[in-house]
Amino acid sequence: MSNHFISFPDNFLWGAATSSFQIEGYPLADGAGKSNWYEWTKTPGRIENGQDADIAIDHYHQYKTDVALMKQMGLKTYRFSISWPRIIPERGKVNEKGLDFYRRLVDELLQAGITPNATLFHWEVPTWAKGEWTNRETALAFKEYAEVVFKALGDKVPMWATLNEPQIVAEIGYLQKFFPPGKADRAGYAKVVHHLNLAHGLAVKAYRDLGFKGQIGVVLALCPWKTKNDDPVAKAYADKMWDLHADAFLGPVMGKGYPSFLFEFTGDDPKAYEKDMPIISQPIDFLGINHYNPNYAAYAPGANIFDNDWAMKDGIPTNDLGWPVDPEAFYDLLVYLWERYGVKQLFVTENGFPTRESKRTAEELIEDDVRVHYYGTYLQQAQRAIQAGVPLKGYYAWSLFDNFEWCFGYDPRFGLIHVDFKTLKRTFKKSADWYKQVIAQNGFDPALLPKDPDYPIYHDEGVRAKTF
Ligand code: FCB
Repeated sequence: MSNHFISFPDNFLWGAATSSFQIEGYPLADGAGKSNWYEWTKTPGRIENGQDADIAIDHYHQYKTDVALMKQMGLKTYRFSISWPRIIPERGKVNEKGLDFYRRLVDELLQAGITPNATLFHWEVPTWAKGEWTNRETALAFKEYAEVVFKALGDKVPMWATLNEPQIVAEIGYLQKFFPPGKADRAGYAKVVHHLNLAHGLAVKAYRDLGFKGQIGVVLALCPWKTKNDDPVAKAYADKMWDLHADAFLGPVMGKGYPSFLFEFTGDDPKAYEKDMPIISQPIDFLGINHYNPNYAAYAPGANIFDNDWAMKDGIPTNDLGWPVDPEAFYDLLVYLWERYGVKQLFVTENGFPTRESKRTAEELIEDDVRVHYYGTYLQQAQRAIQAGVPLKGYYAWSLFDNFEWCFGYDPRFGLIHVDFKTLKRTFKKSADWYKQVIAQNGFDPALLPKDPDYPIYHDEGVRAKTF
């Protein structure tokens, strides 16, 4: 090994992540109920190319093959999510067949020596939950569902996350209209945020009350807010964007309460939210971070509901969805979370790179040097953060497989493992082979990363048109 080799701590948890709706397919099988996302995929104009997740990658039937692939990759842990409408097709009714699927999956993982890490909510809300997150009752129903799942799987699954990226649900579903329920309701935004936070807190409480001794946390989408230039107005605005995107969730969960800007944004009274704080702020065992890119802030009144044009610095590399690639921002984020919020343990629960099928050759989709470069440079920063003292205990690549990428359908491919969506054949990409080696050696040599990675370059065209 060369002297550039970087190592991770012993017992570092190397993993990969997926989510139920994005890979399972057959969303109505075996007595499952319909979900918001099921309905969304059936609504014309919502998903690119009119695609749906009826088959996805058929993990629902091919989970044994898939666990064998995880074992082949050497994963120590696997992060997946459980579909709420499969388990509770009607309020108050438990669907044992839905639970059985996850029992079989968990047994298969344990037999393969892979630690299961289960997320209770990765965006599927049963359609019976009227009003979804605008309704406090949804948080109470979520607690009932969480109890059912803990009782069924709590003895076997040692790591739990309550919610995946509640802020993305809130922003894109309740302000920007692109995700279900397709609203743009600024005045109602704090309520939605609060009900998501309450659902998290109630599930943590249910887990502890049932006496389980594993670890439970929440997974948040987190990124630093940068500015295009040194304009102090833009910098002050970047802080406000952090408040809305990150602190509206991290604040209450970490016992620091809501940022005041949340209520400036919505115009409602903070007092109405205080009584639930003891439930929301119960101690968690870890914070899960999903991180792909930094965001950019500029005060651009009227550009959209956030008065932010989202335009980035000219000339920076991006992924195929236009998200900036900036590994040092990842380091800054990890250090900031540790210093500002004093989290005990961090896991990177998602980090990864999409290659769009429509923008790459078939060969590039599998010989994915650009993805190897992305993972390598991001992991290098993760290791630097560990050296600086950040209690980062594990890392999950997003994603194990190419899958259904929400509104974008199947065109962006995030997988380490390529999936042919016609035949459902799974093939290790170059990045999968590389990651396998990283896991086996518990580190890698950054000097050996691919040269000249093919990142698209962003060109600033000024303030963007009003989009929502
Ligand atoms: C995250 C989601 C995940 C996937 C990646 C690309 O926001 O948690 O389901 O879509 O982005």
